Amino acid sequence: MFGTMLGGVDHIRHTHDPARNAFSVGQPAHGAEFADDLEKVIALHDASTIAAVIVEPVAGSTGVLIPPQGYLQRLREICDRHGILLIFDEVITGFGRTGAPFAAQTFGVTPDLMTVAKGLTNGAVPMGAVLAKQSIHDTFMTGPEHLIEFFHGYTYSAHPLACAAGLATLETYADDDLLTRASDLSGYFAEALHSLKGLPNVIDIRNIGLVGGVELAAIPGAPTKRAFDVFLDCYDKGVLVRTTGDIIALSPPLIIERSQIDQLVETLAGAIRRAA
Ligand SMILES: Cc1ncc(COP(=O)(O)O)c(C=O)c1O
Repeated sequence: MFGTMLGGVDHIRHTHDPARNAFSVGQPAHGAEFADDLEKVIALHDASTIAAVIVEPVAGSTGVLIPPQGYLQRLREICDRHGILLIFDEVITGFGRTGAPFAAQTFGVTPDLMTVAKGLTNGAVPMGAVLAKQSIHDTFMTGPEHLIEFFHGYTYSAHPLACAAGLATLETYADDDLLTRASDLSGYFAEALHSLKGLPNVIDIRNIGLVGGVELAAIPGAPTKRAFDVFLDCYDKGVLVRTTGDIIALSPPLIIERSQIDQLVETLAGAIRRAA
């Protein structure tokens, strides 16, 4: 989790707190106060120098960190109090991953800006987008009519192929009711995933919607090796997981069936046992 500042970037602490939150199902109970780090950054630099705060509502590559209850709300309150924009990076969480179309909806916190990518075209064609609050949009729409209002064009901006893929993907999400499917499956997914508790070296399991993280104890002197061994083992058996550090990160397709969740978790269990 980090804050972006005009002329520089400052960071606040991540919310990983296994001592209090290990094996939480859904949002962990402890850690809303991590958001108060932002007050310290503001006291140091002054709010007038801070353009925005950007966070992933669920930190993905950092190791599947589910926001503690109240954490994002507190960030929102602090930003509002100081007139700082809040940006959600929903590149991973966007388009149904957490059980609602966007994590902002899952957690009930509305950012001022939102970045999206992967799910926008189902990853089929490169495309990213920034979604802005009406008031921010309107601010850029005040110039002369013949000028581009908010010039940030790229060579491939609004590329027709990417736009076609985006439109087709949105249509499929709607036709197949996929944007809330993670919500329907989240209970089943959580139970399956948390059944791994007690296996050798499993020190934490975390989940929300159709996202999961299984943290393994690192091999002394060989960090990341155990998780990588699990990755290779799963891959050999036809299951693709991702590792980040010693964490197995799971983000299965929204069309996954319950039987495939069973297969995923059984394969993972076998690999974790063999990596012990
Ligand atoms: C959360 C998050 N934000 C941003 C990015 C970068 O997105 P892009 O490659 O579309 O710029 C990634 C890429 O994996 C990501 O996971």
